[in-house]
Amino acid sequence: MILDKFNLKDKVALITGAAGLLGIEHASALLETGATVILTDISEQKLQDTKKKLSNYYDEVKQNIILYVMDVADLRSIHGVSAQLKKNDIRVDILINNAAIDPKVNNKIDSLANSRLENFSLSEWNKQLSVGLTGTFLTIQVFGTMMSSDGKGGVILNIASDLSVIAPDQKLYENKLLPKNKQPVKPITYSAIKFGLIGLTKYVSTYWASDGVRCNALSPGGVYNEQNKDFVTKLSSLIPLGRMAQPNEYRSAVQFLCSDASSYMNGHNLVIDGGRSVL
Ligand SMILES: NC(=O)c1ccc[n+]([C@@H]2O[C@H](COP(=O)([O-])OP(=O)(O)OC[C@H]3O[C@@H](n4cnc5c(N)ncnc54)[C@H](O)[C@@H]3O)[C@@H](O)[C@H]2O)c1
Repeated sequence: MILDKFNLKDKVALITGAAGLLGIEHASALLETGATVILTDISEQKLQDTKKKLSNYYDEVKQNIILYVMDVADLRSIHGVSAQLKKNDIRVDILINNAAIDPKVNNKIDSLANSRLENFSLSEWNKQLSVGLTGTFLTIQVFGTMMSSDGKGGVILNIASDLSVIAPDQKLYENKLLPKNKQPVKPITYSAIKFGLIGLTKYVSTYWASDGVRCNALSPGGVYNEQNKDFVTKLSSLIPLGRMAQPNEYRSAVQFLCSDASSYMNGHNLVIDGGRSVL
């Protein structure tokens, strides 16, 4: 049966940034296909809330939800979780690198001007890259090394963005009340991180291929999360399907990419963006 290939029973998946908007969706996708999920994030409270929500939906498998506070920008924190897992005889079969510092454009005037390339600080650049890009390298170094060294292999999935294949359209963030030099923008870090993740994905996909470790990227388009109406209308007009994504519309792709259903897919960037990047 083809659906058997999606079965993740007896598999353990570790998700970074699991307490955010999409993290809970990735966790749902994996719980639905039988996996045990290790939810990691920097916020203990958000992790507890996420577990509560998931336990309500998936009462019968709530014992398959494990929580760890883990900062992907801190190698010691990652090693700490890895050591705990080892102690408890838990092997990570699937790693989803999803954590990011949310650079969503908000309307605070200070942050608007500071997000512009001309004013973007080195400390902000380093902070955002340390999570989105370096953090992905570090988790891959720790958990990918384990996957590749015991003969059992594994799956690594890096969450990128439609902005891993196209540049941001800064007109989306335009505020007609502000002068040109104060216009909000999607920060340069976002493009650097997301394009960087694709390079990293391709590198890892060949590096451990002979050890049975596959590595792919998933590039979601913008997810509707009650953003302001003007933004939603403008973005929707750039998307051939005419709308933003619902948060749960990436679940089946996660199930595919993390299971044997995609056993011959390696080094790929699966872009799911309603067709935005086709134009
Ligand atoms: N939401 C979208 O529209 C969208 C679109 C395309 C791509 N993405 C990508 O999907 C991923 C998830 O996005 P989201 O919308 O759920 O974002 P989110 O901000 O809701 O969640 C990100 C999570 O990462 C956590 N985090 C931040 N710093 C961390 C650190 N140092 N260590 C561990 N965790 C940390 C945060 O606490 C948060 O829970 C991101 O990589 C994002 O770039 C999102």
